[in-house]
Amino acid sequence: MTTWITICDTCKRDTWNADSDARPHGEDMAKLVEQQARGRDVKTRRVSCLMGCTHGCNVAIQARGKLAYTLGNFTPDEAAAEAIVDYAEKHARSDTGQVPFRDWPQGVKGHFITRHPALPDDQA
Ligand code: FES
Repeated sequence: MTTWITICDTCKRDTWNADSDARPHGEDMAKLVEQQARGRDVKTRRVSCLMGCTHGCNVAIQARGKLAYTLGNFTPDEAAAEAIVDYAEKHARSDTGQVPFRDWPQGVKGHFITRHPALPDDQA
């Protein structure tokens, strides 16, 4: 199953200034993650608000039938985007979505906000 990175493109970090910032931090993060994901084994999409506004920038990592995660408190920079995509690719290669801690990219450590178990199979 495809692992999707859902990026909130409206997140504003505490440093955001309505007078001087041309766009939300989430828009920068979305662009960086999309660039990193190009040609990789994951897909991306944007949404406006993941309801984690107090700890942006936020992304969700999801795939059908697997554990899903929300990660936040990211600064929109290349290092964060690379870590997010590296982690999502490991999620894609995992049967359950659980990536062993030893394999986590350093850049995602301390950024996990929620974990959601996969939904039960409707056929049961
Ligand atoms: S604006 Fe990004 S989570 Fe609400």
